[in-house]
Amino acid sequence: MKIFLIGFMGCGKSTKAKQLASRLQCEVIDLDAVIAEQEGKTIAEYFEANGEASFRQLENQTLKNYPYPETCVVATGGGLPCFFDNMEWMNANGKSVYLYMEPPALVSRLHNRQKRPLIKDMDDEQLLQFIEHKLSERSPFYTKAQLIVNAFDLDGEKLQQKLEGLI
Ligand code: S3P
Repeated sequence: MKIFLIGFMGCGKSTKAKQLASRLQCEVIDLDAVIAEQEGKTIAEYFEANGEASFRQLENQTLKNYPYPETCVVATGGGLPCFFDNMEWMNANGKSVYLYMEPPALVSRLHNRQKRPLIKDMDDEQLLQFIEHKLSERSPFYTKAQLIVNAFDLDGEKLQQKLEGLI
């Protein structure tokens, strides 16, 4: 079973994916890291060189063509569920889990903004407004997930418990 963790930047997808994979004793795959390694660039550098539309194409191809092992936990980029048929593809090929977090909590967790091209020059107030706006646009996609979990104060153990019955 492939478990796809989705949610806004800063909700902790990568960390929770690692924790969950270690509990389930399976591989963890971070799709942004796969793209960065394959392209020999950070995500910020890729955006700078090729723009967002090109990144979204590459993200879509990487999601669909990665040679996933039978069982794994996959951390996805925050925008991935909202482009093409990515959400439908994840639901058809595994289980999707939306890690939900309130905008103020996301702001306080997004310290290192430089590596995130969409928010790199924002102060806290601009970031809060951006998140509120983007989250309302993205929620219809995120909420297609088969499981929605409040990501605040969540660890691998709690996430594993919530997944019982789904996997
Ligand atoms: C993005 C989120 C990032 C990365 C890219 C775009 C977004 O991933 O894919 O910067 O559109 O929300 P994280 O959610 O891991 O920061």
